[in-house]
Amino acid sequence: MALQPLSSLVTQLSSQPIIFVGGKGGVGKTTTAAALASHYATQQKKTLIISTDPAHSLGDVLNVRLNNEKTAITPYLDAIELNPDIIVDAHFVQVERTIKAYTNPDMMPKIREHLRLSKSAPGAQEAAMLESMCQHLVAAADAGYDHIIFDTAPTGHTLRLLVLPEMMGAWTDGLLAQQRRQAKLRSVATHLDTNTSKAKASNDKKDVPNPFAKHKPDRWEQAVSVLEKRKELFRQAGQLLHDRAQTAIVQVMTADVLPLAETQRAIQQLEETKLTPAAIVVNQLIIPTQKDEFWQQRADRQQKLMGDIEQSFTDYPVYPIYLQQTDVRGTEALSALLT
Ligand SMILES: Nc1ncnc2c1ncn2[C@@H]1O[C@H](COP(=O)(O)OP(=O)(O)O)[C@@H](O)[C@H]1O
Ligand SMILES: [Mg+2]
Repeated sequence: MALQPLSSLVTQLSSQPIIFVGGKGGVGKTTTAAALASHYATQQKKTLIISTDPAHSLGDVLNVRLNNEKTAITPYLDAIELNPDIIVDAHFVQVERTIKAYTNPDMMPKIREHLRLSKSAPGAQEAAMLESMCQHLVAAADAGYDHIIFDTAPTGHTLRLLVLPEMMGAWTDGLLAQQRRQAKLRSVATHLDTNTSKAKASNDKKDVPNPFAKHKPDRWEQAVSVLEKRKELFRQAGQLLHDRAQTAIVQVMTADVLPLAETQRAIQQLEETKLTPAAIVVNQLIIPTQKDEFWQQRADRQQKLMGDIEQSFTDYPVYPIYLQQTDVRGTEALSALLT
C-alpha cells in the first residue's frame, strides 16, 4: 500500500475503539498515541489514554501530572500512567492472600520471604503490568469509551503470557479434582475413626450424622476461583485484542536502516500471533527540501529509505509524520499534528 496522507490515519482508526501504539523506545509512540487521543477527544469522542511508561512521558507530553488513577484532562479525554511499583505490590498482596487461604500459618513467613524475592524476578513486573493492562482494557470497554489508546503495544513475548492462564486452566482443574478426592478420603477416614471409637464406647448406638455440623468452605476452591477469574480476564482481553474490528495496532518507526529491520521483525512476530497491525507510522521525517547541505543529505537518505519502507510493507498503509521544530506538547498541538 502506498504512502497515505496523515489526516487519513484518524479516519482509518475511527471505528476501532482499542488502539495500541507500538515501536522501539524514542521513535514517537507516546507522541503518536497522545496525538490520536487528543484528536478524537476534540471530535467529542470519549477517549482514555493509558501509558505503561514509568518515566512519566505521557504526563510530560500532555502537560499534566498523571498517576495510577484516571485523571480527566478535558471533558472527553481521560489519562492514566500505570505505575509498575504500585501494580506489582498490589499483585503480590493478592497472591499472598490467595496462598494464605489454603496454607498452614506456620509456613507463611517463609512464603512471604519467597514472594518478596519473586517481586524482582524476571517477568514478574511484565506479568503484573499485563494483568493491569487487561483489567483496564476490559473495564474501559465495558465503560463505553469510544477510544482506549495504549501508548505501548504488547510484544510477542508479553503476548505469550496471555495464553498462560489457558495452560494453567487444565492444571488447576486437575489439582482441584485431586484435592476433592483427597478431601473425600479424609472424610471417610475420620468417619470410620469416629465410628470405631463410638463402637468401642457403646456397641448398640448407630452413628447419626450431625445435621448442625458446619460446612467447611473448600479453601482450594477459593484459591482456584482467583485463578479462574484471571483466566477469564485474559480470555476477554485476548478476544478483544484479536478482534480486528475492535483493536488496531499502530507500529511507529523512524526512517533509518536499523529501525526498518526491527520493525520488519516486530511485524512478522505480530502476524505470527495473529495480531496484524493496522498501520505503520514513520515519524521524525525531515521535510525533503532543505537549504542546509547537512539536512538535505539526511532528508535525501530518509526519502530513499521511505521507498524501501513502502516496498517492505506493501500490505500496510504507511503514514508520515514530520519532525517538528519543537517537542509537541499539550492536547491542541498534539491534535493539530495529525491534520
Ligand atoms: N514528530 C516529532 N517532532 C518533534 N519531536 C518529536 C516528534 N516525535 C517525537 N518527538 C520527540 O521525541 C522524543 C521521543 O518521543 P516519544 O513520543 O516520547 O517516543 P516513545 O514514546 O516512542 O519513547 C520526545 O521528546 C518527543 O517530544
Ligand atoms: Mg513513550
